[in-house]
Amino acid sequence: MICALGEANLHRNTKLFWRFFMSFVKLENAVKQYGNGENAVYALNDVSLEIEPKEIVVILGSSGSGKSTLLNILGGIDVMSKGKLLFQDREIRGKKPKDLLLYRRENIGFVFQFYNLIADLTVRENIKVVAEYCKNPLDIDAVMKTLGIDNLADRFPSQLSGGQQQRVAIARAVIKNPKLLLCDELTGALDSKSSGDVLKFIEKINQEFGTTIVIITHNQEIAKMGYRIIQLHDGKILSNEKNTEKIDASALEL
Ligand SMILES: Nc1ncnc2c1ncn2[C@@H]1O[C@H](COP(=O)(O)OP(=O)(O)OP(=O)(O)O)[C@@H](O)[C@H]1O
Ligand SMILES: [Mg+2]
Repeated sequence: MICALGEANLHRNTKLFWRFFMSFVKLENAVKQYGNGENAVYALNDVSLEIEPKEIVVILGSSGSGKSTLLNILGGIDVMSKGKLLFQDREIRGKKPKDLLLYRRENIGFVFQFYNLIADLTVRENIKVVAEYCKNPLDIDAVMKTLGIDNLADRFPSQLSGGQQQRVAIARAVIKNPKLLLCDELTGALDSKSSGDVLKFIEKINQEFGTTIVIITHNQEIAKMGYRIIQLHDGKILSNEKNTEKIDASALEL
């Protein structure tokens, strides 16, 4: 009996130990190379970083600096030439496409610059088709409400503004309750007012569902809403710092 209790305690302490030390996302020495020899292009050249749970991380960099490559590797859309990706301390290997598919399906949500909505489905149906493929989807009405699109449920994409369409795209990405939401220039096609709105809703997703979010952008102002800002240049990390002057998305001057 004493022995069993001792074992239970040991098990519990070991679990606590691992919870405390476990890293959420860890990328080690990532290299992405296109071509060989003299023609080699390094989209990423020895990039290492960590992302903590519930963070909003903004990755800044000019065109061609490697932002999308980095995001696609973190999300298991693309594979590295060299390096290691750990998700909750488990190595994600890119050798078998099925491993990456499972990793993406279980953990990752993507939002891109263009909304990729299905034209002949309504807003609610666009979200529902994704929910039907998920193990534990969030409640559709709750997600639509959080994103301020509950009053648009029966409209078709062509009847929405760009900002509204992007909020539907965000709903499609978050309905499966991903642990990591990856956003590639999500306001790139929007005017400043709609950009501000979309970013406010992104922040709300982080607060309400505890989703860890990575936003890539070339807009310095957007970086101010990040808890952490990473700057990329020519496939390398220039700086990676906690943002001690973080402001709310609603205060961004876009
Ligand atoms: N298939 C490919 N073959 C060769 N080079 C590539 C390929 N895909 C990307 N690259 C190069 O890798 C580099 C990084 O590209 P990436 O798309 O990650 O940049 P980015 O920072 O997202 O740029 P943007 O802001 O314009 O979207 C660029 O120099 C690009 O030309
Ligand atoms: Mg890009």
